[in-house]
Amino acid sequence: MPNKLSILGLAGSLRQGSYNRAILRAAKELTPPEAELTIFDLEGLPLFNQDLEQQPTEKVQAYKAALRAADAILIATPEYNYSIPGVLKNALDVASRPYGDNALDGKPAAIMGASPGLLGTARSQYHLRQSCVFLNLHLLNRPEVMVAHAHEKVDAQGRVTDATTREKIAELVQALVVWTRKLQG
Ligand code: FNR
Repeated sequence: MPNKLSILGLAGSLRQGSYNRAILRAAKELTPPEAELTIFDLEGLPLFNQDLEQQPTEKVQAYKAALRAADAILIATPEYNYSIPGVLKNALDVASRPYGDNALDGKPAAIMGASPGLLGTARSQYHLRQSCVFLNLHLLNRPEVMVAHAHEKVDAQGRVTDATTREKIAELVQALVVWTRKLQG
C-alpha cells in the first residue's frame, strides 16, 4: 500500500462566500482515501516586495513550507478581468522567490475555477497555465473543470450541490492522484 498522497489546495479568493473556496472544499470531500487534501488559506499573505524577500514573514514561511511538504498542488482560480486575481498571482510570486528558492518547482498540480459567468474561468485558467510554465509546475491537462453559472451550483452554505460539477471535481482529484504517482515513478 503506497503512502497517502498529500495535496495542498489554494483558492485565489479571500471572499467568505467564494465559489472557488466552495469548489476547493468539495475537492477535499471528494478526495479518494489514498490521498488527503489540506486547504491553505491565502488570507494574510503579504504583497510581494522584492526588497523584503530575504526576510519572509511567518505566514510566508508557513506557506512555503506547506507547499514544499505537499506531493501535489490543486489551485481553484476565479477570473478577474479575463485573468487570474491579484491574490493568486501574488501567492505564486511569493512562492517562487527569492530566485532559486521556488517552493513550487517540479510539483505536480491541477487547476479548476468557478465563475457566475458563461465561461467558468476559461480565460483565467489559460493565463494561469502560462505562469505555471515558468514556475515549473507539472500541470495536468485534463479534465478541465470550468464551473460556469456557479451561483446556481453552490448553495447558501457554500456547498457545491450540482451533481455534474461534483463528478467533474472528483474526476480531477482522481486524475491528479494518478498523475502525481506517475511523476513520482
Ligand atoms: C469579476 N468577475 C468576472 N467573472 C468572469 O467570469 N470574468 C471576468 O473577467 C470577471 N472579472 C471580474 C473582475 C473583478 C475585479 C471582480 C471582483 C469580479 C466576477 C467573478 O467571477 C465573481 O466575482 C466570482 O464570484 C469571483 O470568484 P469567488 O470570489 O466567488 O471565488
